[in-house]
Amino acid sequence: MAPGESCCRICSRGLYSCHWNHPSEKKQRFAYCWFSILTLVTLLTLCWMYICLVTFNDREDVNWKGFVELKLWVNWFMVFIIISAVINIYCVLLLLFALFQVVLREPLDLHCLHKIFLFLGVLFITAGVTGMSLKWKTEWPTVLLSLQATAPFLQIGGVVALTLLSWLVFKGFHRATRAVSKVLIMVVFVLVSVAIFLSPLLITSPCLLEADELLSKPALIGHRGSPMLAPENTMMSFERSVGCNVTAFETDVQLSKDRVPFLMHDHHHEFLRRTTDVKDKFPGLEFNHSTNLSWAELESLNAGTWFLQSDPFYSVSKLSEEERREAQNQSIPSLVQLLDLAKQHHTSLIFDLKNEDNQDVDITVSTILTSGIPQNLILWLPGTKRRDVMEAAPGFRQVYSNVSIMDTYGGHHLNVKYSSLSATEIRELRSRNVSVNLWVVNERWLFSLLWCSGASSVTTNACHLLQDMTQPHWTLGSNLYRMIWITVNLMSLLIMFGLFILQRNSGSFSHSKEKGKHVHRFSTWNQREMSPFLPSE
Ligand SMILES: *[C@@H]1O[C@H](CO)[C@@H](O)[C@H](O)[C@H]1NC(C)=O
Ligand SMILES: *[C@@H]1O[C@H](CO)[C@@H](O)[C@H](O)[C@H]1NC(C)=O
Ligand SMILES: *[C@@H]1O[C@H](CO)[C@@H](O)[C@H](O)[C@H]1NC(C)=O
Ligand SMILES: *[C@@H]1O[C@H](CO)[C@@H](O)[C@H](O)[C@H]1NC(C)=O
Repeated sequence: MAPGESCCRICSRGLYSCHWNHPSEKKQRFAYCWFSILTLVTLLTLCWMYICLVTFNDREDVNWKGFVELKLWVNWFMVFIIISAVINIYCVLLLLFALFQVVLREPLDLHCLHKIFLFLGVLFITAGVTGMSLKWKTEWPTVLLSLQATAPFLQIGGVVALTLLSWLVFKGFHRATRAVSKVLIMVVFVLVSVAIFLSPLLITSPCLLEADELLSKPALIGHRGSPMLAPENTMMSFERSVGCNVTAFETDVQLSKDRVPFLMHDHHHEFLRRTTDVKDKFPGLEFNHSTNLSWAELESLNAGTWFLQSDPFYSVSKLSEEERREAQNQSIPSLVQLLDLAKQHHTSLIFDLKNEDNQDVDITVSTILTSGIPQNLILWLPGTKRRDVMEAAPGFRQVYSNVSIMDTYGGHHLNVKYSSLSATEIRELRSRNVSVNLWVVNERWLFSLLWCSGASSVTTNACHLLQDMTQPHWTLGSNLYRMIWITVNLMSLLIMFGLFILQRNSGSFSHSKEKGKHVHRFSTWNQREMSPFLPSE
């Protein structure tokens, strides 16, 4: 170890380049190149992490796809998020070490192990983006939508980061010897700054509204009950959702061999596998249709133990001992059981018919009518035989998944994915007296955004998280927002100007002090003291 070297200096150099004892003198040209690559990769990992976090709302989609492909229920999404977070933290730390090196005027040669890790990180993210574009492209609109919630804050964060970074850029500028380098640095910096400063002109968000334009809070519909608090589509799950004041239960209806409507989401090849102990009760048999089993057989299955075992939302640890015992004891409910609960609490019911045969429609309608539930509590979604259903049960509220079909029936209720309508479209539908339900909304930020957009209700897995929100996360009048971003920009410009002058004035002294020798001219500095922003000369 060279004498007089501080511990920080050695650590940061050692971690970055593995030269613990003394700085290396070679390969400087590529060092700056690698520093730029590291910066870009770090930005990339930050973007990817952002994508992971905003798509967290739909993590079930990924896990479900994994289950369908591999017949194995694993929380795949969590695995992706953890790997991404590790890569992200690694890159950010490495970049911090690099910046530290710059401040300490140490050489910047990245160790080749880091280069390999960076490459693997880029490979992982490329695979992630490609996989998403191929298998999950419906999720890209969610990423765009999320910007409506985050863009004003990202912009301010960008301005702060730019202001901090300008210190390094100006340092590079003042140290540059060739005019062409100076021009290059300034042109790039000014372009980036203008883009960041003026981006608010392009930002639109439904939450940029005056307080009196905000519509009332969207009602909550429990998606298969409250599947974070209890096993999905069980009576326990629906009872828990009553506890968070849902206005409707969402579920899925199928018919057994003896034509009893029961509640189960999975069908076809996944039928019963994920949420019941069918493999233990009927070993060696593969069921792929709801009519494979009678109601008595279905009722004998346990529909709760899986929840405690696979803990699909990492929520089991929050359940009390008694709740776990109750979850353990759940069976598949019949539609009649749920209708009784709905009647008792005056809660509406919306459901998918998993097999939309004529018989399924007829039997489901007659089951509902004989249960004695008020007809206006039924939100009828299945499209098959809709005219017949309207005749048999004129009190049902007809719900559509498509605006043009709704208009041909003259309907007033829409049920679509949250990303399929823009805020303007939602407002326009609301002004036509159409109620708009959006599925499936689990995260508070998304709920908050859709509240600003004017949604009438949302279907959610997380009614317990959304029920106590009394207002959206943020709303800002557009004039106030304009004032904020202009002020922030001006302050940033002022600080940058100050830094620029400071750098110019202090440039010539600081260096002579450090070397403890006579004053150098800029042109005589050796390369390793140059800013990383310069091409080596
Ligand atoms: C389940 O029902 C389907 C369709 O009716 C049938 O093809 C299949 O053989 C049945 N499976 C069993 C195990 O009964
Ligand atoms: C639930 O518990 C009752 C009695 O404690 C038992 O008879 C029933 O079989 C249990 N149901 C399930 C699905 O485990
Ligand atoms: C709605 O339905 C019409 C007619 O079936 C179809 O052409 C259109 O693509 C659908 N729109 C959406 C958004 O699914
Ligand atoms: C809007 O719908 C409600 C009930 O859904 C109805 O009472 C009201 O008259 C409708 N208003 C208009 C303008 O159509």
